Amino acid sequence: MEKLEKKIPRNLNECFNIDDIEKLAITKLSKHSLAYYYGGSGDEITLRRNRNIFNKIKLYPKVLVNVSETDTSIIIQNRKLAMPIFFAPAAMHRLACPSGEKDSAKAAFEMNTLYCLSTHSSCTPSEVAAANKNGLRWYQLYLNKNRDISKKVILKLEELGYSAIVLTVDAPVAGYRERDHRARIGEEELSDSASIIANFGFFKNIQDSSFEWEIIDWLKSITKLEIYIKGIHRVDDALIAREKGVKGIFVGNHGGRQLDTVPSALEMLIPIAKACKDFKDFDIFLDGGIRRGVDVFKALAFGAKAVFIGRPLLWGLACGGEQGVKRVFEILMSEFITCMKLCGVNKLEEINESYIFKEKLPKF
Ligand SMILES: Cc1cc2nc3c(=O)[nH]c(=O)nc-3n(C[C@H](O)[C@H](O)[C@H](O)COP(=O)(O)O)c2cc1C
Repeated sequence: MEKLEKKIPRNLNECFNIDDIEKLAITKLSKHSLAYYYGGSGDEITLRRNRNIFNKIKLYPKVLVNVSETDTSIIIQNRKLAMPIFFAPAAMHRLACPSGEKDSAKAAFEMNTLYCLSTHSSCTPSEVAAANKNGLRWYQLYLNKNRDISKKVILKLEELGYSAIVLTVDAPVAGYRERDHRARIGEEELSDSASIIANFGFFKNIQDSSFEWEIIDWLKSITKLEIYIKGIHRVDDALIAREKGVKGIFVGNHGGRQLDTVPSALEMLIPIAKACKDFKDFDIFLDGGIRRGVDVFKALAFGAKAVFIGRPLLWGLACGGEQGVKRVFEILMSEFITCMKLCGVNKLEEINESYIFKEKLPKF
């Protein structure tokens, strides 16, 4: 019905879901920035799968449960956060708005959620720490070929109050992202956006792709910060990570930006969460494809402790800096709370696989 058709929103007030925010962001971002933020690798099969898998999962609500008081709070590192929806590390927020990571980190603080800063950030860790005040703040690490430099960075992070290192392990090289090439985001193009993106080219040449599991021992020898590993796909790798004594893992595929045709984050989560269900002190996060509150619920039902979100927050940032990011969190929170209530659940600990419908249709 044309009268009720969705139009491209003109501002944040006209955005009622993440899809609206994405549409508005597309109108705001330059061609190069959009290609960089939006793109996945190869044919973007994994990028689409991350998202589509959620629509295939059916919820299975309980009724006649008193849901007048729903609590979405979660404890991470002894801190009580407002929601199990966290800020995934993403490079170069200044492509979205002039204050970049300073705005996104401030929004995360205001919303009382966890912020993870990327090694490829376009603001410094000190600037971000100042903007994020005493918020819970982690740092995503790409290891430098010169380990002394990484060590110095980590020691500085400790001083600045970052409380965990998130080692990304699914990117020994960058995935083949055609949208970047098509938008001609090659190094010469990037040098246009000088201070922001010059950094990026610099990082590409100094990133180490030679390390193996021994790197965890090295990290533990230089810092007391907790260590998480980001980009785990397989059960056997999840089990090694646990044996190595890391605090937890991000199950995901870099938002479909690395190896195309790997399974979606949710598909990978299911066997990993089962294999790790008896490990009490080992956090499993889902990272990739979340666009709705029901997606958050489904991820938790399959065993994730919380979820990390990438692109939606970049869209929010592009639409309205700090306010845009807050709007994204507000929308997802409100959808998630509605989903909890309609499923008959009051607390995160109550969410489990019994809320997923698993029956197959009989053959007729
Ligand atoms: C533009 C962009 C930049 C990213 N940069 C990084 C990065 O620097 N380090 C990292 O570990 N992951 C990076 N990621 C991956 C995200 O942390 C996260 O895994 C992914 O965005 C989750 O998928 P989603 O966008 O569907 O939520 C980036 C993702 C995007 C979209």
